[in-house]
Amino acid sequence: MSSSESNPMVRTVAGTQSEMTEIILPNDTNILGNLLGGRLMHFIDLTGAMAAYRHSRTHVVTASMDHIDFIRPVRLGELVTLKSSVNRAFAHSMEVGVKVWAENTRTGSVVHVASAYLVFVAVDDQGRLQKVPQLLPETPDEIRRYADALRRRKHREAESARRKEERLATNAQEEAAAGNP
Ligand SMILES: CC(C)(COP(=O)(O)OP(=O)(O)OC[C@H]1O[C@@H](n2cnc3c(N)ncnc32)[C@H](O)[C@@H]1OP(=O)(O)O)[C@@H](O)C(=O)NCCC(=O)NCCS
Repeated sequence: MSSSESNPMVRTVAGTQSEMTEIILPNDTNILGNLLGGRLMHFIDLTGAMAAYRHSRTHVVTASMDHIDFIRPVRLGELVTLKSSVNRAFAHSMEVGVKVWAENTRTGSVVHVASAYLVFVAVDDQGRLQKVPQLLPETPDEIRRYADALRRRKHREAESARRKEERLATNAQEEAAAGNP
């Protein structure tokens, strides 16, 4: 029996793997016939949430999406496939990786077009934080992503603290300029 079977509070990466494929229609594109960036971000959010749901088995909300590089445009009529899995679980949050490919339906060529990391937070019906099971990385790639996720979390926390300080300083300056004590 694997440790994930013997302990329901530990789950495998394989159990979180999720996938979705969409055909890109005119409503999804800009006037150049390329998939809108916001539409792709919506697909990324949905596919990421699927992995987080499979890990936590409760409601999840998107807490953050790291910057996305749109490596190449996705064109009208192409098939876009997104794959996601949880990289690491913390107390109430999970980092999920999403990778996106576009497939030309006539030539069959498939190219990587985008990747993103998202953090989802588990909540109950009232929006209260929920503990999530821990993740057991098994393969060398999963172990590498698990380690990298902790590094990214520390980076996010440092960035978030820096932005908070900036906001407080801006607010204080605006209040001083408005003559508030
Ligand atoms: C995400 C949310 C639930 C966090 O609530 P909170 O009271 O600030 O929670 P805390 O500060 O105690 O953090 C709880 C967890 O969320 C993580 N978290 C909170 N804000 C985060 C952010 N901006 N980025 C990444 N992780 C974040 C914390 O690291 C912590 O993780 P851990 O418990 O696994 O260590 C809350 O900010 C929220 O509801 N945001 C709006 C979400 C939303 O509407 N999303 C879009 C639609 S789904």
